Amino acid sequence: MEKEELQAIASQLKHPTGEKGIETANMMHEVNSNMIRHSIQNLNISNGNIILELGHGNAGYLDFIFEKADSLKYYGLEMSELMFHEARKKNRNFVSRKQVFFSLYDGNVIPFEKEYFDKIFTVNTIYFWQDPEKFLLEIYRILKTKGTLCITFAEETFMKKLPFTQFEFELYTSEKVENLVSKTHFKIVHKETLTESVKTRTGEEIKRDYTTFVLEK
Ligand SMILES: C[S@@+](CC[C@H](N)C(=O)[O-])C[C@H]1O[C@@H](n2cnc3c(N)ncnc32)[C@H](O)[C@@H]1O
Repeated sequence: MEKEELQAIASQLKHPTGEKGIETANMMHEVNSNMIRHSIQNLNISNGNIILELGHGNAGYLDFIFEKADSLKYYGLEMSELMFHEARKKNRNFVSRKQVFFSLYDGNVIPFEKEYFDKIFTVNTIYFWQDPEKFLLEIYRILKTKGTLCITFAEETFMKKLPFTQFEFELYTSEKVENLVSKTHFKIVHKETLTESVKTRTGEEIKRDYTTFVLEK
């Protein structure tokens, strides 16, 4: 594949736009569904929780969250206008019932008051955080005391095999995330790495290691 093509794939994953962006979002929804479910599972959602997701893509999995407990509210924040619109379209019933709220933001300052959320999760976005330490502090600010943050990402050993990750992506090992977290007041309560088989763009099956960090304020 040409350098320009690889760069274009990386840009779409970082910030989906246009026709290709819709395709990319559908593909991510399919390929990443185990990772997303793993992150949600580890949130231990209970009745009345106010939940935030950072970087939801098309958010085609919200049923899975609302099955977990009653009287939940889900907020989704995105940097991609296309994903904001796609997610609203896919979840129009939840949105009209005022159970789900989507907004756009700049990827740095989270537009909510302090200690607003019980649970926060984010899947496959850490690679794109502009200032990871500052961003974790920002997440800390809006999480309630004893609240949970789940960060789910694919391990560097797997990501390195995908040629487009040399552009736009900052890759992470578990150790690197642990080191990042140690610079904040978050406590690591659990960390789990799982391996699954995924299909690459060329149809080849490869093993992917992914990790969820469960952090507590
Ligand atoms: C690789 S996709 C992952 C989508 C979905 N979470 C998944 O795992 O399939 C990354 C998404 O996160 C968004 N994004 C990137 N940086 C972000 C940030 N700092 N905060 C919120 N969303 C971000 C992008 O617009 C894109 O939709």
